[in-house]
Amino acid sequence: MKLYNIKENDEQVSFGQAVRQGLGRNQGLFFPSELPKFDDVDALLAEDFIPRSTKILSAFIGEELSQDTVKSMVENAFQFPAPIHAVKEGVYALELFHGPTLAFKDFGGRFMAQSLAAVTEGNEQITILTATSGDTGAAVAHAFYGMDNIKVVILYPKGKISPLQEKLFCTLGKNIHTVAVDGDFDDCQALVKQSFDDAELRKEVGLNSANSINISRLMAQICYYFEAVSQLPKEKRSDVVISVPSGNFGNLTAGLLAKSLGLPVKRFIAATNVNDTVPRYLETGKWEPKTTIPTISNAMDVSQPNNWPRIEELCQRLGWGLETLGKGAVTDEQSAETLKAMNAEGYLCEPHGAIAYRILEEQLNEGETGLFLCTAHPAKFKEVVDDILGGDLELPAPLAKHNAMELLSEDLANDFDALKAVLRKVQ
Ligand SMILES: Cc1ncc(COP(=O)(O)O)c(C=O)c1O
Repeated sequence: MKLYNIKENDEQVSFGQAVRQGLGRNQGLFFPSELPKFDDVDALLAEDFIPRSTKILSAFIGEELSQDTVKSMVENAFQFPAPIHAVKEGVYALELFHGPTLAFKDFGGRFMAQSLAAVTEGNEQITILTATSGDTGAAVAHAFYGMDNIKVVILYPKGKISPLQEKLFCTLGKNIHTVAVDGDFDDCQALVKQSFDDAELRKEVGLNSANSINISRLMAQICYYFEAVSQLPKEKRSDVVISVPSGNFGNLTAGLLAKSLGLPVKRFIAATNVNDTVPRYLETGKWEPKTTIPTISNAMDVSQPNNWPRIEELCQRLGWGLETLGKGAVTDEQSAETLKAMNAEGYLCEPHGAIAYRILEEQLNEGETGLFLCTAHPAKFKEVVDDILGGDLELPAPLAKHNAMELLSEDLANDFDALKAVLRKVQ
């Protein structure tokens, strides 16, 4: 598989290089040179999750890794299901929170760990630097925990992720170093990019990124869109609308890549909270990020979404007009109201999924089938959910275990030199 840097097109890399390197020159994202397409999607949908996902990922990776290798990577990474659940007639939740850290990031984080292991020499020293708005951190930390040659440094906005999200990855120790940055998620993401721009530092610590900057994470996420549609009754597969709760727009990028492979999706909806740079852009054609506002759907508190250039690139290459994307932004009050209404109808959700559901409900037409992505387990946002529903959610075992452990994070000013010192110290 060849990939090119969408900012500096002459930089062309293999899958292995893209996985190892994360980001290209001048902070350019890597994007596949060829966009494969399946002729017989019905046959693909008829397969089970693991063989189907192996075919999808092999179609992108090509001959660089054998199908057997990809199959064992998929088997090791995807050890939990992605079920759909009928919330009401014609509307389904795609539950992506059945993995070890209870969020959709487990698919990408674990597949990236497998990919990195497949494309590096055993003794190569790597430092994975990643920014998280809450869930990536846990998935990456758990996927790489205890790997001898890999140090993981995770930046998160101090006080701006849920306490349980924080406990899940800031209590591990060993090769996992967690850093609470005095800033918001966009600041954390900017520090990561700045580190990648520093060629000397990059070489010195063997820098890699596990954000959705890394193409292997996005590719893994394509697979659950196919898995969702495969579970729909056949007569409901022709007019499917998928609503994606979006922050950094990796998940929507993966969905659009699934469509480019031939998955029959009529329309995607980019659903955000009030950090609505993309819905406003789709409305006005003006890219005008504002200061990030903290919300109860904190993992989507992003105003400079990193993956948007990949979406533009894909749409441009395939001649898809951006106006075909649905869009919508939801306030905290509306998210809470929706979550409450869903619960009254018998489905327990959390704020991110509730946002996707609300906009889907508003925009779904007669005869269409709706799917919305439930990106995290409600208990990860226990404080918020309990507050809205007036209940006391029980913690699933992994959360209860980590909740009882001591936080090991260090605080950091929003300052690149301070971060450089941390990266050197952990070696
Ligand atoms: C629970 C949850 N929902 C939605 C999102 C947004 O996904 P993306 O950043 O891929 O748009 C995130 C990202 O961190 C998340 O953790």
